[in-house]
Amino acid sequence: MIGRAAVVLAAGQGTRMRSRLPKVLHPLAGRPMLQHVLASLAEAGIEQQVVVVGHDAEQVEAAVGGGATTTVRQEPQKGTADAVRIGLELLDSGTQQVVVAMGDAPLVPAAVFEELLSAQAAGDACIALLASRPSDPSGYGRLVRDAGGSLQAIVEEDDADAAVLELGEVNAGTYCFDAGWLRANIGAVPVSPSGEHYLTDLVEIAISGGSRVVVVSSPRAELAMGINDRSGLAAAERILRGEIAERHMRNGVTIVDPSSTFIDIDVQIGEDARIEPWTVLSGATRIGSDAVIGPQAQILDSKIGARTTVWSSVVESSVVGEDVEIGPYSHLRPGCEIGPGCRIGNFTELKKTRIGAGSQIHHFSYLGDADVGEAVNIGAGTITANFDGTAKHRTTIGDRAFIGVDTMLRAPVSIGPGARTGAGAVVTRDVPAGETVVGMPARRIGTRQRKAPDRNPEQGGGKPRSDA
Ligand code: UD1
Ligand code: CA
Repeated sequence: MIGRAAVVLAAGQGTRMRSRLPKVLHPLAGRPMLQHVLASLAEAGIEQQVVVVGHDAEQVEAAVGGGATTTVRQEPQKGTADAVRIGLELLDSGTQQVVVAMGDAPLVPAAVFEELLSAQAAGDACIALLASRPSDPSGYGRLVRDAGGSLQAIVEEDDADAAVLELGEVNAGTYCFDAGWLRANIGAVPVSPSGEHYLTDLVEIAISGGSRVVVVSSPRAELAMGINDRSGLAAAERILRGEIAERHMRNGVTIVDPSSTFIDIDVQIGEDARIEPWTVLSGATRIGSDAVIGPQAQILDSKIGARTTVWSSVVESSVVGEDVEIGPYSHLRPGCEIGPGCRIGNFTELKKTRIGAGSQIHHFSYLGDADVGEAVNIGAGTITANFDGTAKHRTTIGDRAFIGVDTMLRAPVSIGPGARTGAGAVVTRDVPAGETVVGMPARRIGTRQRKAPDRNPEQGGGKPRSDA
């Protein structure tokens, strides 16, 4: 909405993280902390976002990059009020409400930003601030109220006496300000004993000047949390993962054990999919409806078709069609495309390999840089020797080809449609359509007509997960 803007503070060093990575770039459920804040603000309809950067500015700027978000540098970092003062300079002159958010408080939902905006406007207040009552208030500024319950000040932990430290109501660091009042008063914030300008001092300035400050209490304290160290990071991760699992379950996904299931925020899952325990779904993964993923599956940046099962296997940056069975113990490395109805593994490794509909690689095999047609049977132990020590080469296998057990395919090599290789063949030259080759190096022994190899005595064929 016009007239609303946000200043996001992300210039601090984050010393307590003890990390070379800037604190606000530490990932949470697959996205940098800061991106969660920006996404919630955008969801709350706050289009103009200014991120104040400083420490490791280049890295943070690169991560924010583009869109409606701009960055401004605060150098040196002289405290949260100083950061807001710098951010304010970039806001449109027509801005009426300014949300200030902390780059290290990534769980604040859009609804809470909206509530602060309406509380500030409705209460005709110069500040609406978010308060919470965490189980452990240490590290936060405390809200100090008078006997009548009216807010008097926020006292930072470093400046608090024993009585103030006892108070359980804390400042989340998330606010909505009246833009005009903020512009007029931000310069009045004094230097604290620590040498910083505390944004929290604006509360006393407002109250002593007779202006209203309203407090919005966070419905759930954990969503207001600020992350200062690695254990805070882990706590936030746990909370966020719980929220993500809840959302999928509400949408009709079965998650057998949410506590052992790790789903990144951008993952999409279709209805009636079933996610078994010890499963990790990361990045931009999309799971089709009625798929069964896990137990013990790890899927990264991949698309898995409807009704496909992935059992104790790893799939990276690949596209898997519908009704495919993968695993157990297979690894699809980046760049694979698996057609519908295929069966992959026990113990199969694939890399940059395209496999047509209905093909089977049932047992331990490695195919790299290969194009495999439809209804192909790859016998146990088949290997593409795709690397000659200097370069990678491709292997092509035509539709309905039958590759016998323990075949070695020395790339570049092409097996024609319907061709066959005998057990233990070492194929060094192209095999024409329909031909059979055997031996080492493999030689032709003739041509034969045959049906699609969906069941074959050598391999057992038949049902997945139960065949010998
Ligand atoms: C701040 C609040 C505290 C509140 C807590 C909530 C102040 C003085 N204190 O304390 O009341 O309970 O957040 O989590 O505001 N930053 C800058 N520039 C600076 C200093 C900090 O951009 O000069 C940024 C940091 O990168 C961080 C955020 O502001 O994202 C908060 O800074 P931090 O040092 O973590 O403040 P807290 O001590 O947690
Ligand atoms: Ca903090």
